Amino acid sequence: MTADMRGVLVVDMGTQYTQLIARRVREAGTWCQVTTPDRVLEVAAEMDLGGLILSGGPSSVYDEGAPNPDAKLFELGVPVLGICYGMQWMCQSLGGQVEATDQREYGRTLMSVETAEGLFHGVDGESTVWMSHGDEVVSIPDGFTTHASSESCNFVAVADQARGLWGVQFHPEVTHTERGKEMLDNFLSRVCELPGDWSEESIVEREVNKVREQVGETGEIVLGLSGGVDSSVAAMILDKAIGSRLHCIFVDNGLLRKGEREAVEAMFGEHMNLDLTVVDARDRFLNRLKGVSDPEEKRKHIGYEFVEVFREEAKRFKNAGFLGQGTLYPDVIESVAAHGGNTAVIKSHPNVGGLPEDLEMELVEPLRELFKDEARRIGRFMGLDATLVDRQPFPGPGLAVRCLGEITAEDLALLREADRIVTDEIEAAGCHADLWQYFAVLLPVRSVGVMGDGRTYEKACAIRAVHSTDAMTADWAYLPHEVLQRISTRIINEVRGINRVVLDITSKPPGTIEWE
Ligand code: XMP
Repeated sequence: MTADMRGVLVVDMGTQYTQLIARRVREAGTWCQVTTPDRVLEVAAEMDLGGLILSGGPSSVYDEGAPNPDAKLFELGVPVLGICYGMQWMCQSLGGQVEATDQREYGRTLMSVETAEGLFHGVDGESTVWMSHGDEVVSIPDGFTTHASSESCNFVAVADQARGLWGVQFHPEVTHTERGKEMLDNFLSRVCELPGDWSEESIVEREVNKVREQVGETGEIVLGLSGGVDSSVAAMILDKAIGSRLHCIFVDNGLLRKGEREAVEAMFGEHMNLDLTVVDARDRFLNRLKGVSDPEEKRKHIGYEFVEVFREEAKRFKNAGFLGQGTLYPDVIESVAAHGGNTAVIKSHPNVGGLPEDLEMELVEPLRELFKDEARRIGRFMGLDATLVDRQPFPGPGLAVRCLGEITAEDLALLREADRIVTDEIEAAGCHADLWQYFAVLLPVRSVGVMGDGRTYEKACAIRAVHSTDAMTADWAYLPHEVLQRISTRIINEVRGINRVVLDITSKPPGTIEWE
C-alpha cells in the first residue's frame, strides 16, 4: 500500500454490510480500505488516514471473543464513526455502558434528530432508520452528547463533536435508512473534511505508480488475457505502467463465443499494439474433453488444461518474473465473517486466476483495491471498447458448461451460432440493459420436427436470460414475445442442426445460472 490518497479505513466488526459500507464511501468519492479489527493500527499506519468507520456486527460487546480492536485507534487523531456494534464498542471502550434491551428494535424505526449538525447537517426532524441489534448504549462516555433518539432508545446517535467521534445505533449504509447517504456524506465531508475527489485519473496514476514500484525498471510481466473486463482493464493499466515489458497471453480454448477471439485481437493486438500471443489450443482442449460428460469433470479438465497451456507459453518469456492478474477487491478483503463456517461447493470455478504456484512468479494485481464497477469506470476512462467494458459475465469454462454432456466441435459450432442470435436479438431490442446474463444453451436431446416437406430429428436449445445483482441469486427474466419469436424463428431458420427452441424459466435458487 502506498501512502498517497487520503482515505477512510472501514473496520469489519463481523457484519455482512462491510463491503456495502466501503462501496458507499467510494461512491461518495472517498478512497477507502477495509480491514479486520486486529489489523487496524497496522493498516492505518500505511494509509494517509482521514477517518475510521467501525462496522456493525452480530456480537455483543460482552461476548467472549467479540471483535475488539486496539483502543489506541482513538488516539490516531482522526474522526471515527461507529455503526451499531461499532458504536457500542466505541462507547464501552471510552467509559460508557452497553446493555441488552428488552425492547429490541429491529427493522424500520422512526428517529428524531435533535441537533442537525455534523453527521446530521441538513437532516433534521424525523426520518426512518434501519436497526438490527439487541444491545444498546445506556450511558454515554464523558464528552459525548446525544443527537438523535427514538421512542424506545435515548441514544440512537451520540457524538463527542470535539474529537469527531460519532456513533449511530442504526445502519446508515442500507437503503432502508432514508437519509443514510446524506449522513455518510456528512461524515466524510464535514466531520472528516475529506475532499471527495476519487477520480479515474487519480486511481490510474496510483496503480501505475504502484506497478512501476513493484516491478522496477526492468521487470517483465506475463498476463493471461481472457477478454473479460477484469483482465482487460488490468492489461491497460499494466501497459501504461511498463509498455512493451508486458506480455499478454490469450488462450483460444475453442470454448469461446462467436467473434470473441477476433475482438481481443483487434482491441489489444491491433488497436493498442500490445505484445499479444494468441494460443490456438482448440484441439488440445477438445481432445482432453473427449468422452467427458460430467460437469465437474469437464470444469476440472478445462482448468488443468488452461494451466498447462499457460505455463508452456509463459515459460517463453524468460525474463518475466511477474504474473499479472485482474483480481478485484471483494476477492481479497479479509472479512471477519469469512472466518466462519465452510460454504458448500456447488460448482468449482476455475478461473484464469487459478494459476499454479510453481510458476514461481510474483503476482501483480492492479485491480486489487477496486470494486467491479470501479474497474469498469477505469476501463471506460482508459478507452476500453464499450463491448468489452459492459460485457456480461462469462464463465471460465466457457461454452463447455452450456453445451450439455459430452462436447463436440459440431455442437460447439451450433451453440455459437444460436448464442449469437440470442444475444443479437436481445440487444437489438434494447432488452439487455437490466439483464445480468442472456445466452443460449445447447441441450443433449433430439426431437422430431418438420421443415418444408421433410421430417427433421435435431437438437434443441434453450434461451436463458436472468436478472441478478451479484449472481448469488437470480430471477429468470421476462422477454417480450416479439423478441422470443424472432430468436426462435432465426435459430430454426439459420442454424442447421437445431429444430426446437425452449425458454428456461428457472430462478436461482433452485436452478443455477449456468446449466452445468
Ligand atoms: P452459477 O451457474 O453458479 O453461476 O449460478 C454464477 C455466476 O458465475 C458464473 N460462472 C463462472 N464464472 N468461472 C467463472 O469465472 C466459472 O467456472 C464459472 N461458472 C459459472 C456464471 O456465468 C454466473 O455469472
